[in-house]
Amino acid sequence: MTIDLLPALAGRDFLDIADVTAAELRGLLALAADIKAGHWRAGARAPLEGRHLALIFQKPSMRTRVSFEVAIGRLGGTPITLADVDIGLGRREKVSDVGQVLSRFTSGIVARLFSHADLLELARASQKPVINALTDRSHPCQVLADLLTLEERLGGLEGRRLAFVGDGNNVAISLIEAAALTGLALTVITPPRHYPPAEVTRQAHTVKVTSDLAALEGVDAVYTDVWTSMGQESEAEVRRLEFAEYQVNRDLMAQAPRAIFMHCLPAHRGEEVTAEVIDGPQSVVFDQAENRLYAQMALLASIFGEA
Ligand code: CP
Ligand code: NVA
Repeated sequence: MTIDLLPALAGRDFLDIADVTAAELRGLLALAADIKAGHWRAGARAPLEGRHLALIFQKPSMRTRVSFEVAIGRLGGTPITLADVDIGLGRREKVSDVGQVLSRFTSGIVARLFSHADLLELARASQKPVINALTDRSHPCQVLADLLTLEERLGGLEGRRLAFVGDGNNVAISLIEAAALTGLALTVITPPRHYPPAEVTRQAHTVKVTSDLAALEGVDAVYTDVWTSMGQESEAEVRRLEFAEYQVNRDLMAQAPRAIFMHCLPAHRGEEVTAEVIDGPQSVVFDQAENRLYAQMALLASIFGEA
């Protein structure tokens, strides 16, 4: 059985979840599920055959780097991974010059950058598609995998209740954009200083933001992320105090006894989540990690494959 690619995504950037329509997002998730189920049969020509993609990592990465390298390899392409020391983005060389040059050598760029503004500049300069592998603003590839995991575990997305407990930054923002497209009933629970930006939540009618942990009552899934993201290390002490009561532990999970537990990883046991919860029976964190591979294969095949 061969599977349908999504010709509508051909040649497009994927900088945020909001860059795709609701139908395109459904299509990507269906394709990812098909690939995971073993229905992937490369036709005469694998989607990335003969193509090279540049992977830029300005910050550390394990899951994103490995899952993209494996995904590109499985689709017949070749990844070229570049660390910040290789490029000196914005210091050794202007961001836009990097975009211009890499897009002349390769078929596309996957970039994990500190600044979302730099990602936008890179994408403007690149003549080939650019995929966001995490910035300070968003982490859309993570959330593609999370949506696949939620569908697998909860049987759908629309109306399912997800509570995100913790920092309202990159992962939360991509979840909000996903909720706006899928009808996922998302509540972001965080101290007021860490509320996600109002311009992100304004259009998302199935999203609520509160500092009140009582909003966890009876949800289908509880998601958390680190309290101190990469690049915020100088705030770690302050953040540990600010988020202390938002730790996902047994007492907190007792408010949602049937909920699955989600985390994008890496996790800090004893900070945002206890070992008992993340290593316990409700945890689906390794399914989320595994699903990065299938979600990104679907994304890459749709952007770079010839349907
Ligand atoms: N979840 C995630 O993006 O992990 P890495 O930082 O290891 O890539
Ligand atoms: N919010 C975290 C996500 C890591 C995958 C960070 O930006 O460090």
